[in-house]
Amino acid sequence: MTQTEYKTAVEQLKKYAYHYYVLDDPITTDEEYDILYHHVVAYESANANEIIPDSPTQRVGDQPQDKFDKANHLSRMWSLEDLFNKEELDKWVERITKVYGDVKFYSEPKFDGASLNLIYDEGRLVQAITRGDGTLGEDVTQNAKTIQSIPLTIDYKGRIEIRGEVVIFKEDFEKINEERLKSGESLFANPRNAAAGSLRQLDTRITASRRLVFMPYGIGANSLEIGNLSERMAWVYGLGFRNPHMTHICVSADEIETFYHEMRIARDDFAMLLDGMVIKVDSIAVQDELGYTVKNPRWAAAYKFPAIEKLTRLKEVILQVGRSGVVTPVAIVEPVDIEGVTVERSTLHNFDEIERKDLRIGDKVIILRSGDVIPKIVKVITADRNGSEIEIQRPHNCPVCNSELLDEGALIKCQNLDCEARVVNSIIYFASKPCLNIDGLGDKIVLALHEAGLIRELIDLFGLTLEQLLSLEGFKEKKSQNLLDAIQAARGCECWRFINALGIEHIGEVASKTLCSAFGTAFDTAQREDILALEGFGVEMVESVLEFVRVNGLKINTLREALSPVEPVKRVAVENPFKDKTVVVTGAMSVPRDTIKAMLEELGAKVASSVSKKSDFVIYGEDAGSKYDKAVELGIALLTESEFRQLTSLPDSGTPAQSSSIKPKNSLFD
Ligand code: IVH
Repeated sequence: MTQTEYKTAVEQLKKYAYHYYVLDDPITTDEEYDILYHHVVAYESANANEIIPDSPTQRVGDQPQDKFDKANHLSRMWSLEDLFNKEELDKWVERITKVYGDVKFYSEPKFDGASLNLIYDEGRLVQAITRGDGTLGEDVTQNAKTIQSIPLTIDYKGRIEIRGEVVIFKEDFEKINEERLKSGESLFANPRNAAAGSLRQLDTRITASRRLVFMPYGIGANSLEIGNLSERMAWVYGLGFRNPHMTHICVSADEIETFYHEMRIARDDFAMLLDGMVIKVDSIAVQDELGYTVKNPRWAAAYKFPAIEKLTRLKEVILQVGRSGVVTPVAIVEPVDIEGVTVERSTLHNFDEIERKDLRIGDKVIILRSGDVIPKIVKVITADRNGSEIEIQRPHNCPVCNSELLDEGALIKCQNLDCEARVVNSIIYFASKPCLNIDGLGDKIVLALHEAGLIRELIDLFGLTLEQLLSLEGFKEKKSQNLLDAIQAARGCECWRFINALGIEHIGEVASKTLCSAFGTAFDTAQREDILALEGFGVEMVESVLEFVRVNGLKINTLREALSPVEPVKRVAVENPFKDKTVVVTGAMSVPRDTIKAMLEELGAKVASSVSKKSDFVIYGEDAGSKYDKAVELGIALLTESEFRQLTSLPDSGTPAQSSSIKPKNSLFD
C-alpha cells in the first residue's frame, strides 16, 4: 500500500463509520470494513510516523488508567429548569414573550444518559470532560475516543465546546444485562446508569465494548457568528455528529404543547431513553439578554415526560416454569400506571438476583418500564421497612407438577419432562416466530388446545381436525380452518427451523443454523467430535444436543416425518485449496477471527473450533497456544494468516509468505 492509498483507505473507513454510527445507514458490510481496516493497521505498523491522527485505529485505547484527572470546562455546564405541565409551560413562555414579543423556540428531545463536554481545537478532539459540578469534571478523553459517533476531527479550526448526552440504546442495555446475569454480575438498574458507568470505566476496552452513542445538544465556549441555535445545531450535525431528527421550531406555548405530545407518542420508538423535551430560545442574542439564574439558563427548560420509574410495593413472587424447566421468579406488584400502561408484574431474573437485591415481600420498590425495556425492579427501598416484610424462599418443588426441583444456584429447574408447563411452553416455542412461525398458534390457543386434551405433545398438532377445533369455545369455521392451514404450511420448512423448534437447551437460532449447514436434517446422527468441531460449539452445547437426541430420538423422527424439512442447499465454491477441508483458526489475526472464518466458509471450508485428526489446516496467529501444539503433534498443516491469504490470492499485510518459522509435515510450501 502506498501512502496515497493509505490516505484514501483511512478516508474510506471514516466514511463507512460515519454512515454506520452517525447516519444509521451502513454502506458496506462488516467484512469489507474489517479487510480495509486490516490494510490500514498493517500500513501503520510499518509506518508509525505517518499515522493520520483521526485514523479509526486511533480510537482503540491503551493500558487501563488508575484514575481520571479532574478537568475544567471552558464555560459552565448548566442544568435545566423542569416543567411538568401546560400551566407551567404557559408561565415559562409568557415570562419570555412579554419582554421579547414573538420569540421562536427550538425544541428537541431530552436524552437520558450522562452529559459530556467535548473540546475541539485546531480541528481535533483535545479533551472530553464529564459534567461534574458544572465547572470541574473528569477527563475521560480516552474513553470518549472509543465512541464511534464522536468525530476525532472536525472541519472547523477554532476552539469550541460541543456538548451532548452519552446514551446507550435500550436494546444494548438489555444485552449487557443478559451478559451480566450469565456471568453472575449485578445488573445495571437502567440505561442511564449503564451509560454513565460505561463512560467512567478505567479500562477503555470495556467502554469500547459498550456501544455508547453521543447525541449532541449544544455548544459551550465558541466564537461562532451564527445567530440562531437551530442554525448552529444544523452546523454541528454537519460536522459529523448524530442528528436527533425530531427537532422543531415552535412559536407559541400551544405549538410547543402539540409537539410535546407528538414526541411523547414517538418516545418508545426512539432507540434510547428520552425523559422529556428541551425548549430553547432560538435567537442567541435573546438568550444572551435573558441570561442565567444561579442554576439554570432563563432561555431553556426541560418539559418532562411522565416518569417511567414508579414507586410501588411487592405483593408476592410467583414462579413460572419455562420449556426447559427453568423456574423464573416473577414479581407481582401493586398496579402502577407507567405512561398509560398498567404494570402489575416484572421479571426478577433468578433467585440469586433476588438475594443480591435483598428483596422481600412487602418491600417498597422502584419499577421501570419503557417500550422495549422489560419492566423491572430497579431499586428496593430498604430504609422504609417496618419489620413485617417477608423473606423470599427458594422453592424446592415445581409449582406446576410438584416434582422436586434441581437447584443449581442461579438456575432452579424442574426436571420432569412431562410437566404441563414444560409441555405447553415447548409447543408455544415450537410455533413461535424464530421456529416454525405458525400463524395463530399463540400462548392462549396452545393452552386452550392443551386443556381440552387435544394436544399432549408436539406431534399431536399435525393430527388436529376441523371437528375438534370447532368443538372449542370461540373457534368458528374460518378461524379453525386458518389454524389448520397454518399448521400444514409448516411442512417443508427450512431445516434450521426444524432443529430450532425442538427447543434443545443451549441451542438457539445461530447454533441451529450451524448444525443444519453441517449435518442437514439428519443432525441427530452426527458424532460427538464432529459437533464439537463446529464453530461456536462448546462442551455444554454438544452434551445438550447428544442428551436431547438420546432421550428424544423417536420424537425427532416423528416430527421430521411430519414436517419434511428441506435439506440446506450447499453453495458450490470455486476450486481452491480449502474447499471441503476442515480448518481451525487460532491466535490473533490482523482482522477479527470471524472475518477469516467467513472467508473460509465462502471458500467452501468447514471451520472447526478444535484440532483433531480430521483437521486439514490450522491457521495460526501470534499468541496461538494449545491448538497450535496439538496441530504440530498430529502433523496438521500449519499456515500463518499471510500464507493463507497468499493461497487464496487475497491481499495481505505484506508479510512474506515464507515467514512461518515452522514447516509443517505436509506443508503446502515444501
Ligand atoms: S441543554 C444550557 N438539551 O439534561 C443548556 N440538555 O437537566 C443545558 N440533556 O445536563 C442543557 N438532553 O445532560 C440540554 N437536548 C438537551 C438535552 C440535555 C439531555 C441533559 C444534559 C443536562 C441535563 C439537564
